[in-house]
Amino acid sequence: MQVIIFDDAQQIAESAAEWVAELINKKSNPVLGLATGSTPISLYQELVKKYKAGELSFSNTTSFNLDEYLGINEKNEQSYRHFMNENLFDHVDINKYKTFLPTCNQGENPREQGLDYEDKIAQAGGIDLQILGIGANGHIGFNEPTSSLASRTRIKTLTQQTLDDNSRLFAADEFQPTLAMTMGIATILDARYVLLMATGKNKAKAVKAMVTGPLSAVCPASSLQLHENAIVLLDKEAASELEDQDYYVWADKQNVKINQEFGLYHNY
Ligand code: GLP
Repeated sequence: MQVIIFDDAQQIAESAAEWVAELINKKSNPVLGLATGSTPISLYQELVKKYKAGELSFSNTTSFNLDEYLGINEKNEQSYRHFMNENLFDHVDINKYKTFLPTCNQGENPREQGLDYEDKIAQAGGIDLQILGIGANGHIGFNEPTSSLASRTRIKTLTQQTLDDNSRLFAADEFQPTLAMTMGIATILDARYVLLMATGKNKAKAVKAMVTGPLSAVCPASSLQLHENAIVLLDKEAASELEDQDYYVWADKQNVKINQEFGLYHNY
């Protein structure tokens, strides 16, 4: 796991945007894994900026989002489809027919939808770069603590902590779903690269559990210890509980030189 500590969230967004831009500019049919939540919003703003400046085009990009609330129509403002349209898709030249979410509308079978989503990812050639945030309880996507490390896209019951954390996004009288469709942990681990962003003190405990383990379903993000190319972008608050911070800072200086000479990617 490559841990990079930044001064603030804006620097994280700029760095993450570089990773995305390099992939999109170098690969003819890039496949991006996308995330929702407040953390990636500034990344999407950076990407829109780059698109408007003519620095990148999404015209050949296919995308797969991590998760979507169950039974929420995509016209609903709380749907992650709506979030993606508002924060990215409506502002760049991506072909919306090539943007996928694990949607399961009312009346559809979540088991079939999960299998279908896995098939679609495989048909696209697999995910090159998966963007991730992390829940305060260590979840990635909506893979809550004790999710199987071998899980695939499926229906998942949200924990009370996740419901509480996300309740800020719902009005008092608004329906807040308790079920969601999410890529599984194995689905995420299949991505060629994963880029996890975390900011703020309330993520520090989960970040420590993810980086220094133990590898355990209790902290789903700790599964990234098994990934060959996991890059973790943190601000100082999110990194605050990590020991060995000096090492990460020093190693990053070496990696900057290595990346300049050999590029960010080596096996997509
Ligand atoms: C949500 C999403 C995750 C996200 C996490 C953190 O519930 N399912 O994909 O990473 O919680 O969200 P935030 O970035 O708002 O802290």
